[in-house]
Amino acid sequence: MSSSRASSSAVSLNAVSKSFGAIAALKATSLDIRPGELMTLLGPSGCGKTTLLNIVAGFLSADAGDVAIEGQRVNDVPTFQRQIGMMFQSYALFPHMTVEANVGYGLKMRGMPRADIHRRVQDALVLVKLQGLEARKPSQLSGGQQQRIALARALVIEPKVLLLDEPFSALDKSLRGSMQIELKDIQRKLGIATIFVTHDQSEALSLSDRLAVMSEGVIRQVGTPHEVYADPADRFVASFIGDVNVIPGVIESLDDGRATIRVGNGHVGASRTHLADAAPGTPVDVFVRPEQITLAAPREEIPLTGKVHASVFQGGHTDVLVDVGVEGMSTVLVRLAGPAHVARWAKGAPVGVVFAVDTVLAFPKSG
Ligand SMILES: Nc1ncnc2c1ncn2[C@@H]1O[C@H](COP(=O)(O)OP(=O)(O)OP(=O)(O)O)[C@@H](O)[C@H]1O
Ligand SMILES: [Mg+2]
Repeated sequence: MSSSRASSSAVSLNAVSKSFGAIAALKATSLDIRPGELMTLLGPSGCGKTTLLNIVAGFLSADAGDVAIEGQRVNDVPTFQRQIGMMFQSYALFPHMTVEANVGYGLKMRGMPRADIHRRVQDALVLVKLQGLEARKPSQLSGGQQQRIALARALVIEPKVLLLDEPFSALDKSLRGSMQIELKDIQRKLGIATIFVTHDQSEALSLSDRLAVMSEGVIRQVGTPHEVYADPADRFVASFIGDVNVIPGVIESLDDGRATIRVGNGHVGASRTHLADAAPGTPVDVFVRPEQITLAAPREEIPLTGKVHASVFQGGHTDVLVDVGVEGMSTVLVRLAGPAHVARWAKGAPVGVVFAVDTVLAFPKSG
């Protein structure tokens, strides 16, 4: 293996496949995780996230393809020699052991002298802000504290790679939020390459340096959170990341980079990125984010109108659902910043629906 490649990726998967009987859990998947990067695997249940993680960890062997860690092919290297730190949804602390013994377990298994273990455990506990709790048992800790201990246990071996499989899904929302921030701080401070699995898109968008969006054993797109949100590679990614309205329309005209699409009695400009070979007259689906639409009093110049179906106060913003008279489309979700909208857009009120951006995404109609 060449050394230039060795220095460029912390983890590298090259055409890795894995099937369980007739189920192709991972299909010729390639992915590179850069040193120090937090890469999230995001996708619906059953898309192959845990399978990919288990192959990197060495719990599963790939049917085909190669896995490398820091440039070394590890296909035949057992888990305990891969120098991997792991944390899973059920953090599986040893209930009969103290915090000290739980965190130090991996070092003890590696035969490290007691004094060194003690020092490394102390460092790890400082990192997760739980120094002083060494003598407690897991049952004497809160859920968030147990999660931190599990993180300390994963980090204490000074792994080359950290693998996290839905680590916060058992925590309530506010605790999850603070653990996410803390994990990101620790991960950045240590500069440790991390693969983080979640099916929670807001977690993925807030934590990741880059994310890989998966579906049915295939990585559909790899990019920064902003790239994946603003420039999704396909319909699946566009629908999976963030809320989106899918509004039927028809291509009216095409010029160099843009298509003009008729929606209801109005028009909207769309990028041609996903409409390469489409001709005028082609039915398409226009993908519009809720924050790309605003509401106005109905006027003749506003061709798309409707009636407010519901206005939902969300604290910092208001979600307004509008019934529009477009065939094949029930309601449009509009997200308005600020609190004053609930009173203004009451149920039943007639409204004009205005696209607040010049360019939206459109995809050829599926099926
Ligand atoms: N040991 C196994 N035997 C048979 N099928 C399996 C096994 N492990 C996983 N699968 C199947 O492989 C596919 C991918 O599973 P995987 O656990 O990787 O999904 P996931 O993306 O982690 O899903 P989730 O979000 O629900 O955890 C699924 O169809 C699953 O049923
Ligand atoms: Mg899983």
